[in-house]
Amino acid sequence: MRLNVNNEERNVAVAPDTPLLWVLRDHLDLTGTKFGCGAALCGACTVHLDGEAVRSCSVPVSAAVGRRITTIEGLSATGEHPLQLAWLQEDVPQCGYCQSGQLMSAAALLRQNPAPGDDDITNAMSGNICRCGTYGRIRRAIHVAAAKMAGAKIADQGEAS
Ligand code: FES
Ligand code: FES
Repeated sequence: MRLNVNNEERNVAVAPDTPLLWVLRDHLDLTGTKFGCGAALCGACTVHLDGEAVRSCSVPVSAAVGRRITTIEGLSATGEHPLQLAWLQEDVPQCGYCQSGQLMSAAALLRQNPAPGDDDITNAMSGNICRCGTYGRIRRAIHVAAAKMAGAKIADQGEAS
């Protein structure tokens, strides 16, 4: 089976109903995506399919063929996505286990809604459980990243004009 993962073409020999999570972790060694509940309830396994957040524990790998799969390893080539920088600035993670899933959900949110309000953030992030309770810092970091991305866009437009 041929997959596009983080902009690379990868071949895997697996049964079509294998959950995407296990293909990523066990066959492609992309262990940044975590296993939590295995039942689409916790969000630890969140990755993007064509830019949309999905729960990779509950997506058969066959459904990802022909689509762009992005994992936390591919969120930014330099590891400096505005959300990653904001996560550092706000010191978001505690144990860290849920955080790659949180970042992937947050990135999908900002792609769809570059200026989310508190309610938008609550709705978009409600499927990502954090046993350490970092929700307040996650919300702050998303606001920080959104403001930085909006500022960068205004600066770009200024340069272009
Ligand atoms: S491991 Fe996929 S949602 Fe929990
Ligand atoms: S930081 Fe520990 S589960 Fe979220």
